[in-house]
Amino acid sequence: MCFFRPTADFKLSLGTLRIDGILPSSGDIQLQTENLAAQLKPDSVVEDISAGDASIHFKINRSLLAEKLLEPFGKGEHYEFGLNSKLFDSLKRGTTLVEFSSPNIAKRFHAGHLRSTIIGNFIANLKQSLGNNVIRMNYLGDWGMQFGLLGAGFNKFGCMEKLKRNSLQHLFEVYVQANKEAEHSEDLKQAAKDFFRQLEQHESQAVSLWQQFRDITVKEYKHMYKRLGIHFDVYSGESFHQDQAQEVVQELQSQGLLKTSEKGTGVIDLSPNGDMSNICTLLRSDGTTLYITRDIAAAISRKEEYCFDEMIYVTDTSQENHFNQLFQILLKMGNSWAGRCRHVSFGLVQGMRTRTGKVVFLEDVLDEAQARMLHNMNQSHTTKELENPEDTAEKVAISALIVQDFKGPLQSGYKFDWARTLQAQGDTGVFLQYTHARLCSLMRRNEGVETATFNPSCLCEQTSRTILQHLLRYDEVLYKSHQDLEPKHLVNFLLKLCHLVAAAHRELPVKGSPPDVAQARLRLFSGARSVLAGGMRILGITPVQKM
Ligand code: ARG
Repeated sequence: MCFFRPTADFKLSLGTLRIDGILPSSGDIQLQTENLAAQLKPDSVVEDISAGDASIHFKINRSLLAEKLLEPFGKGEHYEFGLNSKLFDSLKRGTTLVEFSSPNIAKRFHAGHLRSTIIGNFIANLKQSLGNNVIRMNYLGDWGMQFGLLGAGFNKFGCMEKLKRNSLQHLFEVYVQANKEAEHSEDLKQAAKDFFRQLEQHESQAVSLWQQFRDITVKEYKHMYKRLGIHFDVYSGESFHQDQAQEVVQELQSQGLLKTSEKGTGVIDLSPNGDMSNICTLLRSDGTTLYITRDIAAAISRKEEYCFDEMIYVTDTSQENHFNQLFQILLKMGNSWAGRCRHVSFGLVQGMRTRTGKVVFLEDVLDEAQARMLHNMNQSHTTKELENPEDTAEKVAISALIVQDFKGPLQSGYKFDWARTLQAQGDTGVFLQYTHARLCSLMRRNEGVETATFNPSCLCEQTSRTILQHLLRYDEVLYKSHQDLEPKHLVNFLLKLCHLVAAAHRELPVKGSPPDVAQARLRLFSGARSVLAGGMRILGITPVQKM
């Protein structure tokens, strides 16, 4: 375990060594500390070793630290920094399938889907950065009874013209209207049932209408994901697995795992002592399958198709039980790989609204964020002349949404507040972008300065040292985020870096300093910028050069 103290560069806690069994867990801990410190000998890298309070303090050769750490940043981008650390040597690499976003056709895209989208993207980026082969999958809610209603509703009050022009909006309207009308119209209810039956039996007219709904939705979403800087390798969906779901039911039957309940539904017993105290329904009494049945089929078929080493599902906490049951059933069926499936869940966001009311579509959130940010930028006197202010405003606004969301533990929900999210000062995504743009501007203004070599001993002030020590922790922070898949470690690391850079801007001027000092400081700023940009990209943020 390494932590930094103002004087020591590393601190090794004896408590940890005791817990890990490296040292005996009894005896006077301070005595143990002093004994151990006395046995360790300084060398050319570690200059000084001393006993602190139940911990050993190491001071490293600072000039060497600056030299080695900043070596890679001589020229341009250096995204591998931190990623090729020895810390990751023991990490198992392989194929990771991350399923995220997964909205439902014709239904609202809520804040939960947005959270799943950005968290899933972060996990995929992180896994990929650390050398895994990553498959990004979107699993659309494109099947189920509601498509009966949507299809029947569309036949009654849908309009092809509107569907093409304003697709998501129109599908949503039709669905809402159909739901309302079905409450008192037996005809519509029957039509919905018929439509869904036609779909399940692959009748061409119904399938072709459904296919149009799906294609149009995917096209619209692709456009929105692009605005977010996110892509998917696969647009899967529940519809892909409806036939396989029936096969799963048969398989369960032949394994003796499927029981028929009193109500005539097909269930599986998940209670530990087999007394049916915890059952999960897999088949309706009319023989149709459910959400979970399709998920079982989907998991099995993904394993066959992609041979993943691990699979991660990202949804809000309300689906925790669903995924627990899913993994249990897969294991019961003999799929030991289900042990390498994992559900990453997150708390609810409340109060995400636009000026005109509730958020219905992802587009509403993106438009609102962009408009608000553009307004803030126009008000600010530090805003630069930009080629495309809308584009910059959008990128900055998205980073603000991401940072707001990633600052705390994923499990805790929060109350959404536009003003707080988009603040220029304070720990926000705007601050990250602003710091990045300011560093870029510093680099631009000093393009003439020769930076191929630098003298590390020019970086002896406390401010430079603190930045160097901070950068040195980058791999450890990525490691932590990889361990628990929590973006907060990385976000808080980057925010801290930005505060340190702000102090360095004040205290370590480049302009007007002797050439060797200017050179060394530029190298330090360049290193900070590279790490900041690399970290932002892992979070799913596109760093801007100017704002
Ligand atoms: N479409 C679902 C929803 O909006 C989320 C799907 C999650 N993934 C899964 N494999 N069940 O609630």
